[in-house]
Amino acid sequence: MNTTPSLNRRNFTKTALLAGAALAAGTISTPGADAPVKRIRTGLIGCGSVSNQYLPQLARSPFVEVVSLCDIKPERARRQTERFKVAHHYPHIDAMLAGEPFDFLVDTTDMQAHEKINGQALEAGKHVWSEKPIANTLAAGQELLRVANKKGIRLWGAPITVQSPQFAFMAKQLAARKLGRVAAAHANYGHEGPDWSAFFYEKGGGSMPDLAVYNLTSLSGLLGPVKHVTAMVSIVTPERTVGDKGRIRVTEEDNAMVLMDHGNGVISHVQSGFNYFNPNGHEGRNETRHTISIVGSAGFMGMVGYDWEPLGVDLATQDAPTLERHATDAKGYAWQQGATLAAECLVTGQELLVTPEHALHVLDIITAARESGASGKRIPLTSTFKWPIVS
Ligand SMILES: NC(=O)c1ccc[n+]([C@@H]2O[C@H](COP(=O)([O-])OP(=O)(O)OC[C@H]3O[C@@H](n4cnc5c(N)ncnc54)[C@H](O)[C@@H]3O)[C@@H](O)[C@H]2O)c1
Repeated sequence: MNTTPSLNRRNFTKTALLAGAALAAGTISTPGADAPVKRIRTGLIGCGSVSNQYLPQLARSPFVEVVSLCDIKPERARRQTERFKVAHHYPHIDAMLAGEPFDFLVDTTDMQAHEKINGQALEAGKHVWSEKPIANTLAAGQELLRVANKKGIRLWGAPITVQSPQFAFMAKQLAARKLGRVAAAHANYGHEGPDWSAFFYEKGGGSMPDLAVYNLTSLSGLLGPVKHVTAMVSIVTPERTVGDKGRIRVTEEDNAMVLMDHGNGVISHVQSGFNYFNPNGHEGRNETRHTISIVGSAGFMGMVGYDWEPLGVDLATQDAPTLERHATDAKGYAWQQGATLAAECLVTGQELLVTPEHALHVLDIITAARESGASGKRIPLTSTFKWPIVS
């Protein structure tokens, strides 16, 4: 594992901007170093909806050279190579791994495909950035991380909510005990459900790994690793029509309520679902409610908008009881920049706040919530991660 000091989002952006300016001048160099910056040879697999968000970020990065794209729907990979001026495209991971050499795989395939693809890439010696989830079970995810560590390569997973300045502000207030004794937190994220692909509604999919995963990452990141999970999950809409398969049966939850025990008496609650009408849609900029709120004996904090694209944090304390808005500047943070930040980390050695152990802990919460929903039992968790997360 890399042991270089942690770097906050602001410094990351500064580094990227400096390197970007040097690139424009024809010479790329890291600040304070004479050696030219290496671009990480990158392949992206899964050229669907989210690739339209990732590829512009990767294409702009001075630390990345996208050399190949892959999709089992070959037409999609071909179309994205033309659009983003990438030289090679492949219809299968085997052909991609045997083709144009690269060092870093970005996995934006279906949620159920990540585990196998990430495993194949790690075995082939590639660093991996995976969309959520990294794997389908905690044990499988831990095995992927074991392979990565053994080979001295890196594995990361979305989401990156802990990188936002709003998360940093909230973590700082908690560390300074501005809320007094923290008691409870609530977070929610839902919309009417994706209408393009069936995998969101099939086994291993569901609203938890797609939507709650953001809130679970934020709340465990703020309040600490979860000790026990109790949940109820249900299917509200048993049949749907989706772009790739037409009329389908929904076989994974589309409605979830997850209760988490963080220890020391702190309890939080996350709800997610694919049946949430929202007059603000799910575009981040239009949502101005508190989607995360934390309360303690001496204060209240509410995150304005969604944690994947927060707009600010409202804070009121016993000492300053009028709700005031803070941290309204995104400082360069964008939810779709995780793979780009990971590439920057591979080049500069500067660590992210996002860790695979945290992503696996969130996967543990999700699988425990499914188990609790099925059995009615309170499920103890075994995984943990380095906490607090301090930028
Ligand atoms: N769409 C979004 O706005 C969004 C936002 C954040 C995160 N995500 C996450 O990104 C991932 C992809 O979501 P999406 O909306 O882009 O789905 P999508 O269905 O639009 O795209 C997935 C693509 O992966 C390809 N694929 C599936 N299995 C493959 C395999 N074995 N080898 C190669 N290609 C394969 C599919 O053919 C498809 O083109 C999911 O994990 C999702 O949760 C999506």
